[in-house]
Amino acid sequence: MNDMTILVTGGAGFIGSNFVHFMLREHPDDRIVNLDKLTYAGNLENLAQAQANPRYSFEHGDICDAPLVEEVLRKYGVDAVINFAAESHVDRSIQGASEFVRTNVLGTNVLLELAKKFPLRKFVQVSTDEVYGSLGPDGQFTEMTPLHPNSPYAASKASADLLALAYQHTFGLPIVITRCSNNYGPFQFPEKLIPLMIINAMNDKPLPVYGDGGNVRDWLHVSDHCAAIDTILRRGKEGEIYNIGGNSEQKNIDVVKFILQHLGKPESFITFVRDRPGHDRRYAIDAGKIQRELGWQPKHSFRQGIAGTVEWYLSNHEWWKRIVSGEYQEYYRKMYEER
Ligand code: NAD
Ligand code: TYD
Repeated sequence: MNDMTILVTGGAGFIGSNFVHFMLREHPDDRIVNLDKLTYAGNLENLAQAQANPRYSFEHGDICDAPLVEEVLRKYGVDAVINFAAESHVDRSIQGASEFVRTNVLGTNVLLELAKKFPLRKFVQVSTDEVYGSLGPDGQFTEMTPLHPNSPYAASKASADLLALAYQHTFGLPIVITRCSNNYGPFQFPEKLIPLMIINAMNDKPLPVYGDGGNVRDWLHVSDHCAAIDTILRRGKEGEIYNIGGNSEQKNIDVVKFILQHLGKPESFITFVRDRPGHDRRYAIDAGKIQRELGWQPKHSFRQGIAGTVEWYLSNHEWWKRIVSGEYQEYYRKMYEER
């Protein structure tokens, strides 16, 4: 599948903006349209290098706005949709879930309804391993693992997955679902573990580790994730789910210690704080299906990937300084002051 016009929703966020850069670089015959509402997490600075590219267009708007999305699909003659747009932070979903339901569920439904009207070649619904719930010390999530979302965020993503699968089954639409593990890399908003810890460490501030720090996540470098989505866009089978993992399970406390070590900062910066309510203990992904069937596998080791990410934040002070000096301060105070 070449020479496509691809609608990327949420392309001003962390993974979406990395994906826009990846596609413009890897596929000189494709055009990218980015539809983004520019919530607190959307940042056009992430796309500064794409703005001048004639194969890139930006549309400011909400995926819940059906007439607007329809107009975008028609105006550009879109061939494929990659739906990244979402409210994506578990802690915010614990504080209030209505925006999560609106964008993640109702917004996805708007896109699915329109997918019935337009002859798309592929619709990729970007989901998460969090829909599977939490693991004990052993085992991994496969695509057959029953859904057991524990946070409001995960529940909203699982709802969207079920809608997408139902639309595929009922209307024969070319829909594929991806479920990936925790991403890290350039342009990640510093509400998530890795950038928050890097920036706090650089500023000699406490590093707030939830609970005992023994929760485990699998870490996937965002560029490996982008390559996986591109592979699925071109060769993924309709109606299928593909897990995407980084083969890099780590306890949170080890991630934090590694960041401190890399920055030459002391472990005394670590502060254990009140745990997240309902905190999933462990995620681990079996990504055998995408490896066997589509030949994708991650290229980054965790140590190398995190080192590069720390370097990126060190070299891009201006980018994150603008973020942490704005409304982020109020967010940080509310989220961490009472912990
Ligand atoms: P992000 O929060 O960094 O970016 C989300 C983007 O969506 C922002 O640009 C925001 O402005 C936009 N957006 C939000 N609501 C919108 C709406 N109603 N209409 C249009 N645009 C809207 O998120 P991310 O970390 O880049 O995640 C992207 C996708 O990947 C999400 O669907 C998320 O659930 C999924 N995912 C993320 C991770 C991760 O580790 N970050 C892991 C698994 C799955
Ligand atoms: P996060 O980046 O929010 O991703 P998710 O909850 O979607 O996995 O958090 C990753 C892990 O890090 C999770 O176990 C919660 C933990 N965490 C902390 O210990 N301290 C923090 O300040 C943050 C943001 C997360």
